[in-house]
Amino acid sequence: MLKEMLGINTGILSDLHKDHQEVAALLQKMIDSSDARERGDLIKEIANSLLPHAHAEQNVLYKRMEKSEQEASRKFALEGTNEHAIVEKQVELLMRERDKASERWTAEATVLQELVEHHVAEEESTGFSQARSDFDSATLEKLGEQFRQQKEKLMAAG
Ligand SMILES: [Fe+2]
Ligand SMILES: [Fe+2]
Repeated sequence: MLKEMLGINTGILSDLHKDHQEVAALLQKMIDSSDARERGDLIKEIANSLLPHAHAEQNVLYKRMEKSEQEASRKFALEGTNEHAIVEKQVELLMRERDKASERWTAEATVLQELVEHHVAEEESTGFSQARSDFDSATLEKLGEQFRQQKEKLMAAG
């Protein structure tokens, strides 16, 4: 109860927040680098953490929220799934492109960073507060376990 009042992230919400911070740091590092090889390594690292995060989050959290009785939860989950698809396309584009030191690549990487920042900001405000109202703390803890298991599996499958 106190946790909810203070807005402390319980269970899955704490796992998600941790991942968001890690990815934000990697994205910044990638954009700040001017070395094509380093950028290539970083986009791979980002892909292998961001995509499993997004997929596990969809499977464990969004799918449940799509069935919520609250319209704001359903709307958040549906929009979020769509945003994940756009983020995934942008990651694929960055991996595919050869000249990772070009201005074009820098611009595309910046767009990815903006997409992720926008998505995460909505997720941690609207998404988290809807999740807190849809699920009690015990459920959020259980969803956290499921999220971690699914994400690890997806990461191992590469
Ligand atoms: Fe997320
Ligand atoms: Fe998300």
